[in-house]
Amino acid sequence: MRGAAGATEQGSPAEPADARAAQPPAAPAPPPAPAAPPPPPAATATAPPPPASGSHREAVATTPPPAPHVRVEAPVIQKRGPSKGRFDDLKENVHEELLIQLGPKLYDANLSPTELESMVRQALADVMAASDRPLTSTDRQRITQEIADDILGYGPIEPYLRDDSVSEVMVNGPFDIWLERKGRLTRVEAKFNDEAHLRRTIDKIVSRIGRRIDESSPMVDARLPDGSRVNAVVPPLAIDGSSLTIRKFSRDPLTAEDLIDFGTLSRKTADFLDACVRGRLNIIVSGGTGAGKTTTLNVLSSFIPSDERIVTVEDAAELQLKQEHVVRLESRPANIEGKGAVTIRDLVRNCLRMRPDRIVVGEVRDASALDMLQAMNTGHDGSITTVHSNGPRDTLSRIETMVMMAGMDLPMRAIREQVASAVDLIVHQARLKDGTRRITHVTEVERMEGDVITLQDVFLFDQQAGFDSEGRSLGSLKATGLRPKFLEKMAFANVVVDPRVFVPETM
Ligand SMILES: Nc1ncnc2c1ncn2[C@@H]1O[C@H](COP(=O)(O)OP(=O)(O)OP(=O)(O)O)[C@@H](O)[C@H]1O
Ligand SMILES: [Mg+2]
Repeated sequence: MRGAAGATEQGSPAEPADARAAQPPAAPAPPPAPAAPPPPPAATATAPPPPASGSHREAVATTPPPAPHVRVEAPVIQKRGPSKGRFDDLKENVHEELLIQLGPKLYDANLSPTELESMVRQALADVMAASDRPLTSTDRQRITQEIADDILGYGPIEPYLRDDSVSEVMVNGPFDIWLERKGRLTRVEAKFNDEAHLRRTIDKIVSRIGRRIDESSPMVDARLPDGSRVNAVVPPLAIDGSSLTIRKFSRDPLTAEDLIDFGTLSRKTADFLDACVRGRLNIIVSGGTGAGKTTTLNVLSSFIPSDERIVTVEDAAELQLKQEHVVRLESRPANIEGKGAVTIRDLVRNCLRMRPDRIVVGEVRDASALDMLQAMNTGHDGSITTVHSNGPRDTLSRIETMVMMAGMDLPMRAIREQVASAVDLIVHQARLKDGTRRITHVTEVERMEGDVITLQDVFLFDQQAGFDSEGRSLGSLKATGLRPKFLEKMAFANVVVDPRVFVPETM
């Protein structure tokens, strides 16, 4: 449970006393083979009980003091480890036998994924047939699936990656796995064998795209081959074992119709936003983490007419535009020597020279905000992006702060004027308590009045109806009755909005 770091320190004279107590001195280092056996039960049996308050100072006080100059690690909270039973023993034996039989063939670059899979499945069937231990057909199926998932996929989380109803997989150390389904979190029984097993899985994901993760670069963003977004943090930064978060990527992106079905927005608002995009308004989609900003950005981008040239700029290519004329750009981090980084800002600047009709930026989170505003103000109207924020007013102040990061020493008033003249519309979204994602504000950005940018809500989420007996929100997005002033700008692009859209519904 102390993970790889604990294992490498073993035997070192500088090792902290509590670590040595947790590891039996004679325990061999786990072999690098895919099915490293979990540490012997003695390891947990001899471990000192966790300090009552979890306080680091108490933990050290009850054990002999560590050697001078030794950095003592934060106390590790013991999560439920796997209780090894007959099934696990069987699985381990089969796995070892399989590795002996296939050996280097597993790494044969000439094999296609399908050939590799059928080879592994065949060998698994052979190994189990030759086994002298009796196996029920359920055990047989489960062992085949779990070992195949380990060798060909991402181990215990593989079934959830295949399951379309799961939108996010969160691994908090080897023995604690959570899923998000329909906006709600649930914990699952699946576990990795140990920290080393989890680390191998993380290594498999990040090495596939040429990145690495270790003590010197313990945080990494990566992607699965299907495009799912991955973030991993390993010890020492992740205190209780490596953390892995996978935002699933659906091959079939959510459409405007889906969002209407989910109640994220009404048909009337969807039609209005469609008109706003065709009418070349500059739009910011804002919201908290995981509120559904990228999904809404994708839906708004789908409203861009197909005769326009679109350039997209993203950190990790998540957008899935269906139009024919799309150029996709992706930023990249620095290499091992700290060189070669290409930022969103570099890409936004570059794309101005690519004759875009529309610029769609996945997320603005730094000084690229300045370039984005300039693009919006200099003839690239109709651009769309997302910003992390808590509400439409906060969206504006975030943009101001990000523009200041560009270090141009612009006076606040000048920044605000730029923002006010660049941004036409803010679409703010939130994840509600019931797990649903809703657009809560469709807000017009008006002009400066004194030192303040005036905002006017065109549609607002009305929560007055409360919640139903199962805790689901009965609220909905409603017109406020105000007509936005940007209708004139839309008329220039030959887009006319039916004024009845703005009439508030009578209950
Ligand atoms: N309107 C929606 N209704 C239900 N689920 C949604 C909706 N929008 C997005 N989702 C799901 O919610 C998850 C998060 O969506 P998305 O990536 O769009 O959020 P985000 O705000 O861009 O997140 P981040 O801040 O991490 O970039 C995804 O799994 C997505 O499928
Ligand atoms: Mg996003």
